[in-house]
Amino acid sequence: MIIKIKTTNSSYDIVIEKNVLNHVEDYLNLKRKVIILTDDGVPKEYIDNVFSKCETCFIYTIKQGENSKNFDNYEKLLKFMIENNFTRKDCLISLGGGVVGDLGGFVASTFMRGITFYNLPTTLLSQVDSSIGGKTAIDMGGYKNLVGSFYPPSKVLIDSTTLKTLDQRQLYSGLVESIKMSLTHSQKLFDLIFNSKNLYDDIDEIICQSLLIKKQVVEKDEKELEFRKVLNFGHTIGHIIESKSKYSYLHGECVAKGMTYFVSEEVKTKLLNLLNKYNLPPKECNLSLDNIYDYLLHDKKTHNKSIDVIFVNKIGSFQIKNMTIDELIKYLEVK
Ligand SMILES: NC(=O)c1ccc[n+]([C@@H]2O[C@H](COP(=O)([O-])OP(=O)(O)OC[C@H]3O[C@@H](n4cnc5c(N)ncnc54)[C@H](O)[C@@H]3O)[C@@H](O)[C@H]2O)c1
Repeated sequence: MIIKIKTTNSSYDIVIEKNVLNHVEDYLNLKRKVIILTDDGVPKEYIDNVFSKCETCFIYTIKQGENSKNFDNYEKLLKFMIENNFTRKDCLISLGGGVVGDLGGFVASTFMRGITFYNLPTTLLSQVDSSIGGKTAIDMGGYKNLVGSFYPPSKVLIDSTTLKTLDQRQLYSGLVESIKMSLTHSQKLFDLIFNSKNLYDDIDEIICQSLLIKKQVVEKDEKELEFRKVLNFGHTIGHIIESKSKYSYLHGECVAKGMTYFVSEEVKTKLLNLLNKYNLPPKECNLSLDNIYDYLLHDKKTHNKSIDVIFVNKIGSFQIKNMTIDELIKYLEVK
């Protein structure tokens, strides 16, 4: 399946096809210098596969993990491209999860004011979420995604067979972003995930439905001025848990917990049932309310000490409510 994304500033295709990594040359223009950005956790077979389709290709491998999304790697990668005489006509491929997708996108967006960027996501989170929408970023000064750009890829190729090598905890954590989108937009997707007997059998359908939801949102609001806020459902509290636990839980695990605070009792029962099926959230992954005022104050979404919070009272719909930080803390205290 091909999903076409069209916003005021960009248009690109997302190809969802099992084994598409075996014939990337049918979709990407590789008759130029290519740099593949990947990390040391991405299985070598995927890298070799893409490499073998290129004429002049360099592989740049960073350490796996969020810590690699930093300025140092950004600068080193740019220097590497300069030393190897990359030009405006050349291209960068990110092959891996959201970390190499975000870093690679940012490098591609700034090298010579922008070169072709192809995203080949290989984690579920990156396939359903971070590869669409054009956000690129690195972390700085202890803050996540503080420096970045909106720079859409020229093409995204999604090969769900790569998920077979992903560990189950990462897989389920990525699934949370699809669960999130189902809660705010689609009972059908919620039921699909809930009734799935074998996730791998249904994964392409889950990926497609999730992307179609995110497509609707980003096409309406490319730069997160208003409507795109809905994608932050569960994330405000999720980020606090993530940060307070010093990242010992995965992003999706924290978002799973975060969503449970902002749903009606009826939705909560259904949501907990669904999460339970995928061992989510981990038992000890809880929110402690100590000192959360400062966390909320420094949230990128907070303005004038108030924040838009997404609520789901009925699966497939949502409300955005503006709350002051004090109101939100009081709300959480009685939850
Ligand atoms: N740009 C956006 O819109 C957006 C949206 C959501 C999240 N993000 C970002 O995405 C990042 C998280 O992405 P992630 O969850 O993919 O994490 P990740 O990129 O760190 O990948 C997780 C782990 O999986 C390994 N891996 C990747 N593919 C594999 C495969 N097929 N088989 C086995 N192992 C594999 C990686 O080596 C890594 O260790 C965060 O930095 C987050 O800020 C960006």
